[in-house]
Amino acid sequence: MENFEFVSPTHFVFGRGVEKQVGAKLAERGARRVLLHYGGQSAIASGLIDRVKASLDAAGVEHAELGGVRPNPEIGLVRKGVALCKEQDVDWVLAVGGGSVIDSAKAIAVGAHYEGDVWDFFETKRQTNDVLPIAVVLTIPAAGSEASKNTVVSNDELGLKSGYPNNAQRPKLAFMNPELTFTLPAYQTAAGLTDMFCHLLERFFDDVGAVPVTDNLNLSLMKTVRAEAPRVMAEPDNYDARANVMWAGMLCHQGLAGVGRHEDWATHGLEHELSALNPAITHGAGLAVMFPAWMEYVYDADPARFAHYGREVFGLAPTGDVRADALSAIDETRSFFASLGMPTTLEELDVHEEDIEKMIPTLKANKGKPFGSFKKLAMDDAREIYRIAL
Ligand code: NZQ
Ligand code: ZN
Repeated sequence: MENFEFVSPTHFVFGRGVEKQVGAKLAERGARRVLLHYGGQSAIASGLIDRVKASLDAAGVEHAELGGVRPNPEIGLVRKGVALCKEQDVDWVLAVGGGSVIDSAKAIAVGAHYEGDVWDFFETKRQTNDVLPIAVVLTIPAAGSEASKNTVVSNDELGLKSGYPNNAQRPKLAFMNPELTFTLPAYQTAAGLTDMFCHLLERFFDDVGAVPVTDNLNLSLMKTVRAEAPRVMAEPDNYDARANVMWAGMLCHQGLAGVGRHEDWATHGLEHELSALNPAITHGAGLAVMFPAWMEYVYDADPARFAHYGREVFGLAPTGDVRADALSAIDETRSFFASLGMPTTLEELDVHEEDIEKMIPTLKANKGKPFGSFKKLAMDDAREIYRIAL
């Protein structure tokens, strides 16, 4: 087991109606004036924003407001949020939405006390503790940003989508009501399930040997997501299925499922270039295409690890040929994502051979040196993996 540090400061409030406690819980923690940050329209249409505002008002917590976060959030709106925080003396950022809104809120919280341009943090990865505290009302289980240490933001001008890790931006409060996810379109539910499953894959496959305490937790989450996925797709109003998926989504990415391991994250890097190329590409859908392609390219580095995954998660019986078992596990992974209605090729995402070269310079800017851990990858490897995915 590798050395590690693990920080998880999030206070979770989970269950039916918990968004009504937002104001009171923020007031308990001394919040005076929050920036209420949300997305395109779903949280307004459902009445959630009104309910959250009523809760803030009832607790005497003032708010400034900034909506309009798009999926694959952009730095332009983050800069507006930073300016609002400075002008209006905001002391907490309250995100109501999914990964995109939460990531935008994190970036705002990081920039709020900084004199320069907030994009500097994405460029330099410079750490700061001077970050406004963040609260979250989660509306889609997927990215796990409600407890993760990362934010991922696009810069359209530079053609980049870049991550910024910092434990100081982990949310301090997360309100998770599974009923809020009943309204999700099937495609977003499926993309969310895919994303959380991939957060486990990124942690399971690396160059460290077995770490049983971490690996068994990880495998148990994989099995849970796989079992709950068809249930939640078939019955979008099933509270228990939604609740299991919502809590799993957090556990898949808050960090515990990878402690003591190096983790890989090559495939997330490859996917982020797809959503930078075309912000209409949903992160989970991009992963559904890229993960099996990555697996096919790298599995030879340690086929036994793949065979182990296939046995545990898909119940595949060993055939005596470990490479064949590994390939079956990869087939099962692709079929699982396809069974949710996710794409299996880049062509389905309208990404073609000629687009590959457009993504390489930004991938290089984001990743620099060889990346990944299960197998170290250079830019030519990335080209090959994109080709497999076509
Ligand atoms: O904008 P609105 O109208 O709210 O619509 C959203 C959006 O179109 C809709 N939606 C959300 N909740 C809904 C709903 N529609 C109906 N009912 C609800 N309850 O769903 C769409 C997708 O929302 P988004 O926030 O983009 O989804 P997700 O949570 O999958 O977040 C994706 C972003 O997170 C990043 C991704 O790269 C992507 O930018 N990630 C962030 C990570 C992190 N911070 O740790 C890790 C992940 O690996 C990921 O990279
Ligand atoms: Zn992800």
